[in-house]
Amino acid sequence: MKKIKAGVIGGGNIAEFHLNDMVKNENIIPYALCDVNQESLDKTGDRYNIPKENRYTDYKELLARSDIDMVSICTPNVTHFSIAMDTVKSGKAYVLEKPVAMTLAEAKELYLATKNTGLTNAVGFSYRYLPAVQKAKEIISSGALGKIHHVYAQYIEGKDDNENIPLLWRYQKELAGSGSLGDLGSHMLDMMRYLVGDFNEVIGTSGIIIPKRQKLDGSGLGDVTTEDYFHAMATMENDISATMCFTKFAWGRKNSQRLEIYGSRGGLIYTLENGLRGSDHLKVCLGNELALTGDWVDMNLKGFDGVYNTKSQMDCFAEKMLGIKNTIPADIEDGYYVQGIIEAMMNSTQSRTWHKVSDYIIK
Ligand SMILES: NC(=O)c1ccc[n+]([C@@H]2O[C@H](COP(=O)([O-])OP(=O)(O)OC[C@H]3O[C@@H](n4cnc5c(N)ncnc54)[C@H](O)[C@@H]3O)[C@@H](O)[C@H]2O)c1
Repeated sequence: MKKIKAGVIGGGNIAEFHLNDMVKNENIIPYALCDVNQESLDKTGDRYNIPKENRYTDYKELLARSDIDMVSICTPNVTHFSIAMDTVKSGKAYVLEKPVAMTLAEAKELYLATKNTGLTNAVGFSYRYLPAVQKAKEIISSGALGKIHHVYAQYIEGKDDNENIPLLWRYQKELAGSGSLGDLGSHMLDMMRYLVGDFNEVIGTSGIIIPKRQKLDGSGLGDVTTEDYFHAMATMENDISATMCFTKFAWGRKNSQRLEIYGSRGGLIYTLENGLRGSDHLKVCLGNELALTGDWVDMNLKGFDGVYNTKSQMDCFAEKMLGIKNTIPADIEDGYYVQGIIEAMMNSTQSRTWHKVSDYIIK
């Protein structure tokens, strides 16, 4: 079988995850790399044995290579739209990190452009692929929880409660678009849509806890303009009422997710404690007997073969590209929808009123 030659654009933190998953997949060759920062380019390029002649500081040169089949776009949010649009024009398949764009208008344009080409694509809502989330999907789809009443979602971590962290791109609205909402919240909004359905109306409140950080060029303090926390409520389809907490100021917590879903016949709790595959957990309370005693049952997340399924986003992407199987749960359409919810939530903090998501998104 022909192997997929992959280029990675942006060689920082998340690129390591993409490259690791590429290395583990027998059908993908991590083949080319681009980073505007020569030091990152050299460091990441050397670690993943990317040939020197396939390393670039200008992504357009990488996209011009006809021997590259797909790219992973792992750059800061402000660059997602232009790089992804150029990727679509180049006819290459892509995996794009979240949030997919800075604005809903950009997300919509990218979604429509991609749809017209039929290119294989995925958005980095990587937690969908966890066995606990897949199992939750199976249980909810079977109707075992009955009619869903409530979803309580949180994605919290404590790492930003540190004044020594400088004014990185993620603290600047013009480079990141939003803070904890786009960074952490986008994952949970996607997961909620995936598991129980679409959002109707939203309202949120947000705030900045450390308002100034040291500028990277050493010229003093600069303003933090992205929110450190975002708390929200939503009504979802089928009369579901939901609450959400996304913060980077939860002392001692490290990439912690929690989703509680309650229906007329059962409850389900998904947790992820340190962001790593294998730390996902799912427990359920189904049926009158357990409900009366308040007992919860841990779900077995191993397959029939007794093995924890570690299939990654990249594995699913390769299967789709090669026509083996289509099991990519999250693509640019999902990225676009989530961007609409983000925009509605952000506007609601200004107007301090509920916003209808359908006013933002074209179906
Ligand atoms: N899916 C997830 O769980 C997850 C986790 C972390 C980050 N992310 C997303 O990944 C993206 C990158 O985040 P990160 O933490 O890796 O950031 P980072 O700052 O660690 O890395 C970004 C890299 O991109 C490079 N870069 C910037 N502009 C570029 C350009 N025009 N062309 C080529 N390279 C360029 C930078 O030099 C840097 O090395 C963000 O959109 C973020 O939201 C997703």
